[in-house]
Amino acid sequence: MVTALSDVVLSVAPGDHLAIVGPSGAGKSTMLNILGLLDRPSTGEYLFDGEPTSRLSERRRAALRATQIGFVFQAFHLLPARTALENVQLAFLYGAVPRGERVHRARAALDRVGLAHRMSFLPGLLSGGERQRVAIARAVCTGPRLLLADEPTGNLDRANADAVLGLFDELNADGLTLVTITHDQRVADRARRRVRIEQGRATELPRTPDATAPPSVAVQGAAS
Ligand SMILES: Nc1ncnc2c1ncn2[C@@H]1O[C@H](COP(=O)(O)OP(=O)(O)O)[C@@H](O)[C@H]1O
Ligand SMILES: [Mg+2]
Repeated sequence: MVTALSDVVLSVAPGDHLAIVGPSGAGKSTMLNILGLLDRPSTGEYLFDGEPTSRLSERRRAALRATQIGFVFQAFHLLPARTALENVQLAFLYGAVPRGERVHRARAALDRVGLAHRMSFLPGLLSGGERQRVAIARAVCTGPRLLLADEPTGNLDRANADAVLGLFDELNADGLTLVTITHDQRVADRARRRVRIEQGRATELPRTPDATAPPSVAVQGAAS
């Protein structure tokens, strides 16, 4: 049995912008899966919006995920045979949003991420950065309160990564709580809070506003 996380105490406030850093295998994705109600901690408790979640039914957890939480992953996870607009609408699979409303909100979300002109494109015709923006539109079109991103810029070149980060900053400025796992120091530097996870333990890093950057996460990760 692997203990992926232990003795972790982490509190995320509404409107926070938090980066989770640390080497591979440290427990970062496990942490994000718990925050996203995809996994349950084997011991301890996770409170979502003040509500203990360990005893919630799968049905209730699925409802919270679908309405309150958005997910963005490194590999985009778009369906290749569906257009950008159809992919975004998949966010509404859960629940009873009428079709007209779904289309309207999916269009608005794609417009928001700057892809109004790509709505009818299949993912294969989009650049990596555009695909990730479709995934972000899918994650936010339901109006979640919490956005969880696991290495969202890991497959992107610098220009596309910057576009995604700019979008995250805007969403956070509008009140969306944001937790991003990243190996990229530039991504971590943009967050208001940084938490380092190493061997399953979490430590909040002090803010370093200027040149005194913490040690490179990528270098430490390469050793594991
Ligand atoms: N489903 C699983 N079953 C068993 N071990 C797992 C599972 N998922 C992750 N682990 C282990 O838990 C530890 C933390 O993994 P993970 O959270 O994916 O780390 P990170 O995202 O920081 O690379 C690793 O040792 C990993 O091998
Ligand atoms: Mg991971």
